[in-house]
Amino acid sequence: MRMYDIIKKKRDGHELNKEEINFFVEGYSKGEIPDYQVSALLMAIFIRKMSKQETVYLTDAMMRSGEVIDLSKIDGIKVDKHSTGGVGDKTTIALAPLVASCNAPVAKMSGRGLGHTGGTLDKLEAIPGFSIEMEQEKFTNNVNKDKVAVCGQTASIVPADKKLYALRDVTATVDNISLIASSIMSKKLASGADAILLDVKTGSGAFMKDLEDSFALAKEMVDIGNGMERETIGIITDMDQPLGYAVGNSLEVIEAIDTLKGQGPKDFTELCLNLGAYMLILAKVSDNYEDARKMLEESISSGKALEKLKQFITAQGGNPEVVDNYDLFPGASHIVELKSPKRGYISKIEAEEVGISALILGAGRETKESEIDLGAGIILRRKVGDFVEEGETLAHMYLNDISKLESGQNRLLGAYTIEDTKPQERKLIYGIV
Ligand code: URA
Repeated sequence: MRMYDIIKKKRDGHELNKEEINFFVEGYSKGEIPDYQVSALLMAIFIRKMSKQETVYLTDAMMRSGEVIDLSKIDGIKVDKHSTGGVGDKTTIALAPLVASCNAPVAKMSGRGLGHTGGTLDKLEAIPGFSIEMEQEKFTNNVNKDKVAVCGQTASIVPADKKLYALRDVTATVDNISLIASSIMSKKLASGADAILLDVKTGSGAFMKDLEDSFALAKEMVDIGNGMERETIGIITDMDQPLGYAVGNSLEVIEAIDTLKGQGPKDFTELCLNLGAYMLILAKVSDNYEDARKMLEESISSGKALEKLKQFITAQGGNPEVVDNYDLFPGASHIVELKSPKRGYISKIEAEEVGISALILGAGRETKESEIDLGAGIILRRKVGDFVEEGETLAHMYLNDISKLESGQNRLLGAYTIEDTKPQERKLIYGIV
């Protein structure tokens, strides 16, 4: 088999077979096929697209490029949750202990942030002492004992994705449904969960900015999961403005804790209850949405979810006192107000721009190697639909390096559109696949 023939076949719009897809994934993983040939194939895939069958073959080949984790020693049905990425998305930090407090095992492997999107691992590391490094045995024991553990994805899981993703990133071939679906699903399938809940984001802060594309991506991933005998549900949720009010590592963990105290933002609380209910259904802890939601609400109001969070933090080496004393989090030496330049309704807050502003203030990485400032970030004081007077506070910026203020502030201000008329309310949940 020759890579040249595979590129030519795809370039001419034909479907690749399983052997051809295996050949290129294996060959590229082993360093036997050069970047320039894989780049050409990726562009051919991007332009000609892949059929559902080709996407399944690609996912399978990628999954088998590395270790496939066995979670069979963990009791019960393990449900994983995956978000396609966004701004202010601290969902796992509240949702994992919340769902675990209702007796569904949560064995989750999470990632770090890159670009304008934050990562769960970085956020958890804002908790003093918290470790995301864990041997398989400890991970299994923690889930069996406490029903929850979150660790970092090891390098041995889907190494093909690491190479392919880096190449896609520099060849303008990221935003293709088959390539995104196979990248995400190969990692989920290799992580060993029995069932998968996908939170597919849509809007200005998401990979898929268009609603129709978001549904198509969700459908592709759900079909792959179900085809591989993992019960999979996709929920399409809004990422047109940041989720909740907090963006940045310490700030987002604090907002997640507030949510488990029953004092969280309305949109974020609603998202957690919604996703949580489907996780309980997938874990067969509940057989209907209403009962599952009630269980979660009761767990918050009784303090059970908060206790589970403390247990989870303690088990991973963190200081559980942070839950009652937010001064223990890495903080910011400067808190600066962003004032509204005019009077009117906030009609748009571009999530991606807010994410980039937080990154500039120190909360994210410019490159994979950058250090992040855990105390830096943004608290939005107003959201879309709110009315503001000129000079009123739109947001507070948190930072330690004051030299970053001007450019972070300009970027944040540019994220807002303020108009005379009240905008139409956007939905939080667009649908389920
Ligand atoms: N997240 C991934 O893991 N892969 C993609 O291709 C896009 C988002």
